[in-house]
Amino acid sequence: MRANRIVMDRPGPPSVLRYEQYDVAAPAPREVLIRQTAIGLNYIDIQHRTGRYPLPDYPSPIGLEGAGTIEGVGGNVHEFKRGDRVVYSGMPIGAYADLRLMPADRLVPVPPSISDSVAAGIFTKGITVHYLIFTTFAVKAGDTILVHAAAGGVGRILCQWAKHLGATVIGTVGTAQKAELARAHGCDAAIMYTAEDFVGAVWRLTQGAGVAVVFDSVGKDTFEKSLRCLAPRGLLVSFGTASGPIAPFDVFELNRLDSLYVTSPAFVTHTRDRSELLRRADALFNAVASGIVKISVDRSYPLAEAARAHDDLQSRRTAGISILIP
Ligand SMILES: NC(=O)c1ccc[n+]([C@@H]2O[C@H](COP(=O)([O-])OP(=O)(O)OC[C@H]3O[C@@H](n4cnc5c(N)ncnc54)[C@H](OP(=O)(O)O)[C@@H]3O)[C@@H](O)[C@H]2O)c1
Repeated sequence: MRANRIVMDRPGPPSVLRYEQYDVAAPAPREVLIRQTAIGLNYIDIQHRTGRYPLPDYPSPIGLEGAGTIEGVGGNVHEFKRGDRVVYSGMPIGAYADLRLMPADRLVPVPPSISDSVAAGIFTKGITVHYLIFTTFAVKAGDTILVHAAAGGVGRILCQWAKHLGATVIGTVGTAQKAELARAHGCDAAIMYTAEDFVGAVWRLTQGAGVAVVFDSVGKDTFEKSLRCLAPRGLLVSFGTASGPIAPFDVFELNRLDSLYVTSPAFVTHTRDRSELLRRADALFNAVASGIVKISVDRSYPLAEAARAHDDLQSRRTAGISILIP
């Protein structure tokens, strides 16, 4: 069957993203054919495009997250049928397409209360937030936490959910407009780290106590300073490197800075087990349905304009959630 997708012939700038027609085979056993209606745009897509996270082969498709309706099922698929609405996040790469095959094991049913656009916009980001604040560091009432890129896709969900759990949430953002958005989505205070040293601001806001945990997705530009924001025995959760890879550092620093902890968790570890994936998805959909996490899709781009979407995300022009529409 003829379909459309984005491919890249080599790593590089947004212009390497090329729109093409391709042939989709009939679903093999345990595979499902999905007519996609919305595709999630994630920072990891930038890392795949630039080659920071290398892809095995070129030309390569791109994209890890999509939602849509099942158009066909292969042999031995009993849990899904034609017409079911589903969402997924993860390998095999190739979500930037209007029609694609996916293993049934990775699919999650979308509840009627959630649109395809919202499902594709929140699935990766919201499940990431779920494991970060319930598993990596169990956020609870009374905690003061620091969240970098607080107005971003992951950041905005994290701040709202952590606030609901009773935490005091300090966010960092790049612009005054993003500071306003962060405050409207769960942040008690938003520090503009392009204008003010965020370490000093955190110590001022916490009256010298520091924070229990830093959720740091920025990496190179923030890592060392994030350590300096922590209370004794605090945890730095380094879960992304939007500004580039973190320089090697001496683990003894953790001792010197009052017995700190550092971890670098991955989405795949927290969703490999299907029951864990379904449990986290259920919690996320419930958080959205009950209004704990308020979601709007901030930007939609035609799939053919994926390069423009990449440019906006990488240039820090986006806030919140962006999707591609086939
Ligand atoms: N480990 C995991 O399981 C996992 C899963 C999902 C996502 N992630 C990570 O979580 C992060 C957020 O993902 P997202 O898709 O929601 O993206 P996003 O936060 O919406 O976009 C990235 C944001 O990072 C900030 N930033 C700071 N320095 C930057 C730089 N030099 N270049 C670009 N951006 C910079 C910008 O916000 P300001 O303008 O406010 O600074 C930018 O808007 C990414 O690092 C991603 O890789 C990790």
